[in-house]
Amino acid sequence: MSDWTHSTPDPGAGAGGAGGPTLDARDLRVTFQLKRGMFRGRVPLHAVRSVDLEIDAGETLGLVGESGSGKSTAGRAILRLLEPDEGSIRIDGQEITGLKGNELRRVRRKMQMVFQDPYSSLDPSMMIAESIGEPLDVHEDLTASQRRERVGELIELVKLSRGHLSRYPYEFSGGQRQRVALARAIALNPRLLVLDEAVSALDVSTQNQVINLLEEIQQEFDMAYLFIAHDLSVVRHISQRVAVMYLGQIAEHGPTERLFERPGHPYTEALLSAVPLPDPDVQRSRERIVLPGDIPDPTNPPTGCMFHTRCPYVMDVCKEVEPEPYPMQGGGVARCHLHTDGPKLGGGSVRDAERPTPSGAGISTGF
Ligand SMILES: Nc1ncnc2c1ncn2[C@@H]1O[C@H](COP(=O)(O)OP(=O)(O)OP(=O)(O)O)[C@@H](O)[C@H]1O
Ligand code: SF4
Ligand SMILES: [Mg+2]
Repeated sequence: MSDWTHSTPDPGAGAGGAGGPTLDARDLRVTFQLKRGMFRGRVPLHAVRSVDLEIDAGETLGLVGESGSGKSTAGRAILRLLEPDEGSIRIDGQEITGLKGNELRRVRRKMQMVFQDPYSSLDPSMMIAESIGEPLDVHEDLTASQRRERVGELIELVKLSRGHLSRYPYEFSGGQRQRVALARAIALNPRLLVLDEAVSALDVSTQNQVINLLEEIQQEFDMAYLFIAHDLSVVRHISQRVAVMYLGQIAEHGPTERLFERPGHPYTEALLSAVPLPDPDVQRSRERIVLPGDIPDPTNPPTGCMFHTRCPYVMDVCKEVEPEPYPMQGGGVARCHLHTDGPKLGGGSVRDAERPTPSGAGISTGF
């Protein structure tokens, strides 16, 4: 069952604009087969379980969740860097699952990934001009002077100078290296960028500069961004919509302001309670919700609601019945029985529900 359907009332969601979304991924599933000892065969790990994601041109969708929730796996599957078991992925309306060889190569130029560590996309032995120009060599048929001009334009787009082109990656700061990685990623004018913790390793002021740059580039080229990050303050700043993943599933999604102000899922509420607030008085008065235990073993997930082993609001029904996505007031959906059972929130904020069990002291959410 997918949780991001067109039938879901989601007035503020933005996805699904007049020309159709840039990314339309439906019922995406990725399973890893883990080896368990020499003679014990393999165990399936469902890293992504029926995930739906839509992103419009010029829009940023933030993807958050604890470590191991499946964010990177979803991002990589969308780019066909690993094979989904099932599902449909459309880029500008074109179905890309099942594409192979030259067809897949042609579509790859429309979507690129930027990682936390730019060393993973920049060859340390290559001059920057070569690294940025490499995608052009693979996909475009440019003369030497056209290529030089395009590489020069790209380095200036990311606010570095043409003088930097003859340097090597080790001669740059972390922020500059991330700019170079971005120049390489946008060399072919992609429609979709997957930014996987792309600013997480940078200090705050460098992070702000790179985020501003990302926003400028998005506006200029009308790209869709899937912004994967741990830092919810950064996600709030950059994203128009946010999706929250837990054990490979979207627990909640919705327009950023609605989700931050009126979370519909206890997991979202707990994650948000760890975000520092700018007002010190409000910060002092706010309770931090600490979830007991770690994320469960994904090869043996809990029955019913997969969050029930850690949820402060858990009810009997949660242990048996998997919740369906429930439409939230103000847009998006939350997968939680609190909307139909117990306090019957009916799409309202989980902050309006009375928390029946005290949170376990001193245990971190791990987020
Ligand atoms: N190549 C792989 N082989 C087997 N299991 C994998 C592989 N890649 C990821 N996993 C497992 O899939 C699950 C999701 O991992 P993923 O890296 O997508 O999480 P994530 O949300 O990106 O975490 P993080 O925030 O730490 O980057 C985890 O349980 C992880 O151990
Ligand atoms: S369905 Fe139940 S266990 Fe799951 S998040 Fe909602 S209240 Fe918690
Ligand atoms: Mg990851």
